[in-house]
Amino acid sequence: MTAPPATCVIKAQATKDGDVDTAAEPAARVLRAGGLVAFPTETVYGLGADATNAEAVARLYEAKGRPSFNPLIAHVIDAAAARALAHFDQAAERLAEAFWPGPLTLVLPRRADCPVAELATAGLDTIAVRVPSHPVARAILAAVGRPLVAPSANRSGHVSPTTAQHVLADLRGRIELIVDGGQTPMGLESTIVACLDAAMLLRPGALPRTQLERVVPLSEPTPAAGSTAHNDQAPVAPGQLASHYAPRARLRLNAQNIQAGEALLAFGPLAAEDADRAALVLNLSARGDLIEAAANLFSHLRALDAAGAATIAVMSVPHAGLGEAINDRLARAAAPRA
Ligand code: TXA
Ligand code: MG
Repeated sequence: MTAPPATCVIKAQATKDGDVDTAAEPAARVLRAGGLVAFPTETVYGLGADATNAEAVARLYEAKGRPSFNPLIAHVIDAAAARALAHFDQAAERLAEAFWPGPLTLVLPRRADCPVAELATAGLDTIAVRVPSHPVARAILAAVGRPLVAPSANRSGHVSPTTAQHVLADLRGRIELIVDGGQTPMGLESTIVACLDAAMLLRPGALPRTQLERVVPLSEPTPAAGSTAHNDQAPVAPGQLASHYAPRARLRLNAQNIQAGEALLAFGPLAAEDADRAALVLNLSARGDLIEAAANLFSHLRALDAAGAATIAVMSVPHAGLGEAINDRLARAAAPRA
């Protein structure tokens, strides 16, 4: 899928039994093929992609024009599906029991066997999960049978959309399908709570703090822990973010020539001498495709790091399109640690 998609809009329409929506099957077909579908949730419209398909996730970042790969929320049909992605402590269990389905997102430790693409969680060892209550979102999740990542369906830097018209204004020609389910009932994004060591409010949202506090005590967030969720436009300096992906190996960015024994993260065509000199080479995209490169970024970094080289040389990646986000993440991964 390289040509800009013609964006279709279809109306959501509940069938008589109320459980199924006539838009769900067409939406699921597009999603299973790696396409992008905007759909209503009870909070705001989400831009959905198959969370298990790294290329689909990369296309989603590109469609949104995100300057960096912010981690995304995995939307699932119920708590059982969420437990296949993440580890729940007692606080998480109680919050899920009290507020799912509904406008609550939980940030939890990612399971080792979690099928969500690493790009979607920005290489972190945590994952944000949410069980939406909107019937159209639920019908699509049921039809697709996989977790869907769904950031708010706006261009990066714009406000979250609460109608299909808002989505169209921002994303026409950038996504395959919009399911129009009218205005979203809440109009404010979900509340995000991390249940890691203690329960912490990371983003105030549609579920008020007072309701959460009736179920679990909340600790005050440390500035670093809150910085990913508070504002996805906030510029966060490398190293300031407590939880950004950090390889053990040192990263040498914009490497022009490869030193013997270095692992090499390549991009585009590769000189034979460089390939020979490197201890191990993985190419983000031999054909120089930025979507393919984004899809491979975190898994390649992890694999090179696991191979044990002291230094990973990284060839330069052009700054255009998704290249900006790729370079942002590489810079963070290369930043000196405290
Ligand atoms: O209401 C909502 O939550 C909407 C609807 C569509 O579900 N979605 C939404 O997604 O607001 P998005 O991507 O616009 O915002 C998700 C926020 C981002 O600020 C991101 O940094 C944070 O969640 N987030 C995701 N995973 C995280 C993690 N592992 N740790 C901390 N923050 C995380
Ligand atoms: Mg957003």
